Amino acid sequence: MDTVVSGIRSTGNLHLGNYFGAVKNFLKMQDKNNCYFFIADYHSLTTYPTPEDLHNNVKTVLAEYLATGLDPEKSTIFVQSDVREITELYLLLNMNAYLGELERTTSFKDKVRTQPKNVNAGLLTYPVLMAADILIHKAHKVPVGKDQEQNLEMARKFARRFNQMYKVDYFPEPKPYNFGAELVKVPGLDGAGKMGKTAGNGIYLTDDAKTIRKKVMKAVTDSGPTEMNSPLTEPVQNLLSLMKLVSEKETIDFFTEKYKSCEIRYGDMKKQLADDIIKFNAPIREKIIEISSDTDYLRKVAKFGAEKAKESASKTLKEVRGIIGFKQF
Ligand code: TRP
Repeated sequence: MDTVVSGIRSTGNLHLGNYFGAVKNFLKMQDKNNCYFFIADYHSLTTYPTPEDLHNNVKTVLAEYLATGLDPEKSTIFVQSDVREITELYLLLNMNAYLGELERTTSFKDKVRTQPKNVNAGLLTYPVLMAADILIHKAHKVPVGKDQEQNLEMARKFARRFNQMYKVDYFPEPKPYNFGAELVKVPGLDGAGKMGKTAGNGIYLTDDAKTIRKKVMKAVTDSGPTEMNSPLTEPVQNLLSLMKLVSEKETIDFFTEKYKSCEIRYGDMKKQLADDIIKFNAPIREKIIEISSDTDYLRKVAKFGAEKAKESASKTLKEVRGIIGFKQF
């Protein structure tokens, strides 16, 4: 069975794009692999959250992932900072990570450009910490989106370098977990591009009915088709793509037909889409609210996950220390 590691940014608030993208695939993965899912709270320190935010963000993320179906019995679900072994491996890997290659990563260069006043060493060594997350469990596979491919490439490089340096075949090279055709792209509500956090075009799993209605009714459309059977324009295609995720087939067929015959009324289509999203979200939203207020349960899950993660992490670290040559008198 393959070991899979995935870190979850601890910035909370899953939107439909996250749900139909990452989360659904996590749910499938956890049945077939030995999965470690963790909340990357050390990584979040590069942006200086307040102590309250740091904890609350972790709590939100944990509650949301549990509510959407990550299962602590099937997977190891833990908070990164509960497993200190990761930081020691991070220190060790840092010794073989070169300044030049770290400076050349796109994510670092982006940060230098966008936040020139806060170029901290944590940002520079972000890929090393990420490699430690992955290698500490000797992962075979890591599910990553496009934006994390380079970081994963670095992890592979660090694994290889360690093996070569000490002439061992210790770390497997973590490969990207490819979802292929299963990867659903969820469009945003602003007429172009995909749903994202920064774009402010997302519907969150915790949005209530009123918020969802408001957002969907404001979604960008166009002036409507003027010729029979004209191809779908992007904003309309986007609404239909969202419908495909949450609506009945008849609904989708109905509006597709109406578009073709130039009888479509975007207002009706949006109203229907809003209703269907609300129906889809409701049970998940309730679950998130329920779990968020159940501190005992969250504590239990985090503790159980940390214990399982530590078991694997301490074994790796002990072996790595031995390979490097740390010995007791
Ligand atoms: N950098 C990842 C992100 O921003 C989060 C992350 C941290 C991660 N450590 C990881 C992902 C290890 C996969 C494996 O999304």
